[in-house]
Amino acid sequence: MSYPQEVTIVEVGPRDGLQSQPKVLPAEDIIEFVNRLSDAGLTNIEVGAFVNPKRVPQMAASEAVFRGIKKAKQTRYPVLVPNLKGLERALSVGAKEIALFTAASETFNQKNTNASIAESISRFKEVTELAHQEKLWIRGYISTCFGCPFEGAVQPEKVLEVSNRLLDLGVDELSIGDTIGVATPKHIEDVFHLLLESIPPSKLALHAHDTRGTALANCLRALQLGIHIFDTSAGGVGGCPFAPGATGNLATEDLVYMLDGLGIEHGVSLNALVYASAFLESRLGALPGRAYGALKKNEADGGHL
Ligand code: HMG
Ligand code: MG
Repeated sequence: MSYPQEVTIVEVGPRDGLQSQPKVLPAEDIIEFVNRLSDAGLTNIEVGAFVNPKRVPQMAASEAVFRGIKKAKQTRYPVLVPNLKGLERALSVGAKEIALFTAASETFNQKNTNASIAESISRFKEVTELAHQEKLWIRGYISTCFGCPFEGAVQPEKVLEVSNRLLDLGVDELSIGDTIGVATPKHIEDVFHLLLESIPPSKLALHAHDTRGTALANCLRALQLGIHIFDTSAGGVGGCPFAPGATGNLATEDLVYMLDGLGIEHGVSLNALVYASAFLESRLGALPGRAYGALKKNEADGGHL
């Protein structure tokens, strides 16, 4: 079995992790969390969302967060952008990377963005035109690629169709989302085998939520297929306010621990990551990440493992 030598971790904790928390964190707390994540060596950290703050109040401080964080030279700090207004907000703070989002199922996309898939892609036309003029790097999320909370099963062909629409608009990377954590390794094979027939792995990420405990197994299967970009959140927080049943992303510590065991490079310090998650836990209460919990306990017990 062969694996990629190196993996890129896209830390989505400050955005996906916080967007559905019952507690809305102030900008200064999100800034401290992001700074600790940068110190842990993460080179891709999604730091906020320029969406309607009435719909997602947890992200209302995104301008202040973006302005307030320390920016490491080699690190990308993408922000979520739903439309032209979101892009203008991103440009006003000097963002260099943006993430657009649509879905592979109509009902979820309607509830999430108040638009059909076709409407959201036509919104993106003007967004990508301006973003290209401004030389921004663009990620495109596709949600519900393995199952929809409203429609159930989603066909891999639909994921390919939406992927191609986004690639036609010139997005640099696609993030293939298991929004409600229903995928198993078989779903990963079905979707990525099809995508990889025409899209290089350098343009594909897996965005796994760990709702049913399959996220790490899914990442392992994706690694075996050559996927080497993974979205995770420190401590395993996360979820989408418009996807009933969605819980946290795969915890960054869980992925890092597995990659260390496999000897795959990722550039992240596990101890520094735990320090970032511990700060978040001090603000939100207990975090779900498994490796995080074990490492914290190990430290409390005197650190023998
Ligand atoms: P809309 O179609 O205009 O409809 O917005 P609306 O009724 O939701 O909003 C209208 C109001 O929003 C107007 O203000 C607009 O000015 C304002 P009002 O007249 O009521 O005062 N507005 C904005 N304000 C600030 N920034 C903006 C903006 N745009 C409109 N950019 C929109 C469509 C998509 C913006 C809206 O529905 C929205 O914000 N939805 C929230 C979507 C969201 O944040 N979802 C969670 C993130 S996606 C996710 O979690 C999945 C992912 O993790 C991958 C996965 O797991 O699958 C990425
Ligand atoms: Mg998500």
